[in-house]
Amino acid sequence: MKDNFTEDEKRGFYKAIYSRRDVRSHFTSKPIEDEVLSKILHAAHHAPSVGFSQPWNFILIKDIGTKKKIKKSFEDEKKRSSQLVEEPKRSKYLSFKLEGILESPVNLCVTYDPSKFGPFVIGRSSIPEAGLYSVCCAIQNLWLSARTEGIGLGWVSILSNETLKENLELPEHVVPVAYLCLGYVDDFAEKPDLETAGWLPRLELKDVVYFEKWNEHENENWKSVQNMIKENLNYA
Ligand SMILES: Cc1cc2nc3c(=O)[nH]c(=O)nc-3n(C[C@H](O)[C@H](O)[C@H](O)COP(=O)(O)O)c2cc1C
Repeated sequence: MKDNFTEDEKRGFYKAIYSRRDVRSHFTSKPIEDEVLSKILHAAHHAPSVGFSQPWNFILIKDIGTKKKIKKSFEDEKKRSSQLVEEPKRSKYLSFKLEGILESPVNLCVTYDPSKFGPFVIGRSSIPEAGLYSVCCAIQNLWLSARTEGIGLGWVSILSNETLKENLELPEHVVPVAYLCLGYVDDFAEKPDLETAGWLPRLELKDVVYFEKWNEHENENWKSVQNMIKENLNYA
């Protein structure tokens, strides 16, 4: 078929997926070239969206004053959320580096605007959340594109949305979905930091795949793929 991926192209695609990391440290001082930043934003903008509504906006931030205000919100929220967990987990949680707001050259807020092309959007009338899901697709495109360009990206969700709305002057109906920190890095860890720190393990694929019905782990009609899933093959 025309336009099928070559073996090399497939390898590149899977490399981006398996070597993508959430990055909060290891940022270098190298600035992101405008052309690269533009490429990453184009990749995000080519994500799928419910009814082709493209409900995202991307706010690029480098103003140090804004960054400091967002960082303060992170610190407040991290302290507040630490009260939700008991020791010894609390101290462990507090010791984690969970953002790179000031160290990364570019911060980026991705927002959801439900009013775009609305109110009738094909496919959104039964599941309103489909709009938000679309924004998450754009974020994943952005994340993989950044990784392909050697740029680390860290998602910071330990933040007050009210602080974001106020400082970025978002209209009332616009929802901040992600606050991202981007920059070149000198290392992409092999595993998620939270896995390395022993916070949580990666689940086995066989434990999250069901056949035909919820919680059905075994099914004669799916035997072959079931065995492959059990083997935990690494396609990286
Ligand atoms: C919606 C979302 C919110 C996240 N929020 C944070 C955050 O506030 N701070 C942080 O350090 N990592 C955050 N992460 C990153 C996850 O911790 C990370 O994706 C996970 O541990 C797996 O690691 P990996 O992305 O390197 O594979 C977030 C990820 C997602 C998808």
